[in-house]
Amino acid sequence: MTPPASHASVPVNLYKPKEPYLGTVLDNYSLLDEGAIGRVNHITFDLSEGNLHYVEGQSIGIIPDGQDANGKPHKLRLYSIASSRHGDNLEDKTVSLCVRQLQYEKDGETINGVCSSFLCDIEPGSKVKITGPVGKEMLLPADEEANVIMLATGTGIAPMRAYLRRMFEPGERAHNPDYAFRGKAWLFMGVPKTPNLLYEDDLQRYLSEYPDNFRYTTAISREQENSKGGRMYIQDRVLEHADEIFALIEDPKTHVYMCGLKGMEPGIDEAMAAAAAAKGLDWSTLRPQLKKADRWHVETY
Ligand code: FAD
Ligand code: A2P
Repeated sequence: MTPPASHASVPVNLYKPKEPYLGTVLDNYSLLDEGAIGRVNHITFDLSEGNLHYVEGQSIGIIPDGQDANGKPHKLRLYSIASSRHGDNLEDKTVSLCVRQLQYEKDGETINGVCSSFLCDIEPGSKVKITGPVGKEMLLPADEEANVIMLATGTGIAPMRAYLRRMFEPGERAHNPDYAFRGKAWLFMGVPKTPNLLYEDDLQRYLSEYPDNFRYTTAISREQENSKGGRMYIQDRVLEHADEIFALIEDPKTHVYMCGLKGMEPGIDEAMAAAAAAKGLDWSTLRPQLKKADRWHVETY
C-alpha cells in the first residue's frame, strides 16, 4: 500500500551513530510518586544547535558514555519521544524522553541496564549523544476527526503523551492552527501501582477540559484483580469495553496504537479476538485489514 503523503515528509536519520547530535540535558526528574515500584524519569534535551527535529510518534537513539565489556563504545538504544514536535516548552528546540531504569536480579546480584541507568542518573548540563529521529510506525493521522485508541504499558505512554499534548494542551493548540483535534482519544494505561501512573496531572486536566474527546482507563496490575482473580492488565480492560472499542474500530477514522512491553502483544491479540468474536467478526482477518489501512500501529520492546 502507498503510505499517506505525510509519511514522506517525516524526518529520519538526520543524525547517525558516527556523527551523533550532542544534546545538552536541560531537565531530568522522576515521574513517580512515593511508594512506586522502580524508577521512571522524564528527561529533556536541548536541540537548539544543529538540525535535529521530529514529529510525534518517532524515536531517537541514545549512545551512552563509556565502553562495553569488550572495550568498544556502547551501542545505541532507542527511546520513544515523549514530547510533541514543539517540545515541552513549545519552542521547537527540545526533545523529551520517558525512561524506566532496567533493573533485574541475576545470581543474587542487582543488574542495572547500561543506557537506562545512564539516562536516569544524568545531570542537567551534561551532553548526550543522540541519533535519529527514526520510525514511521506510530505517526498520528493528520485528520483532526480521527479516533485514537491508545494501549500503553509503563513507558509505552511516551508517544501517547506526545499525541495527547498535540490534541489537548492549550499551548499546543494555539501553536497548531491546522490541527484542532475533534475526534475521540481513549487511553488504556497499565502500571503496577497507583504511584506508578505517569503524567497523571496532565491527563486529569485533559479529562476535565475535554470530557467529550478524551477518555482514560487504567489497569493497576498489583492493586486490582481481573475477573479470573489474576493481575489486572490493559487487555482485561479492553475485554471489559469490547463493545465500545469495536464500535469505534468499525469507523474507518479509528486508529489503534500499542506501545510498551512486548509481552502485552499476545494478551491484547487474544482480547481483540474474543471481542471481535462476540460481534461475529474474525480478528485474524480484521487485524491485517486494519494494518493495511495504516490503522493498527504497534511499537513494543
Ligand atoms: P541493557 O544494559 O542493554 O540490558 C538489556 C539486556 O539485559 C537485555 O537485552 C537482556 O539481555 C538483559 N535482560 C533484561 N531483562 C532481564 C531479566 N529480567 N533477566 C535477565 N536478563 C535481562 N525504554 C524506555 O524506558 N522508554 C522508552 O520510551 C523506550 N522506547 C523504546 C522504543 C523502541 C522502538 C525500542 C526498540 C525500545 C525502547 N525502549 C524504551 C527500551 C530501550 O531501548 C532499552 O532497551 C532499555 O532502556 C534497556 O536498555 P539498557 O541499556 O538500560 O539495558
Ligand atoms: P506487572 O509487572 O504487575 O505484572 P511498568 O513498566 O511501570 O512496570 O509497567 C508495566 C505494566 O504492564 C505493569 O503493570 C505490568 O504488570 C504490566 N504487564 C506485565 N506483563 C504484561 C502483559 N503480558 N500484558 C499486559 N501488561 C503487562
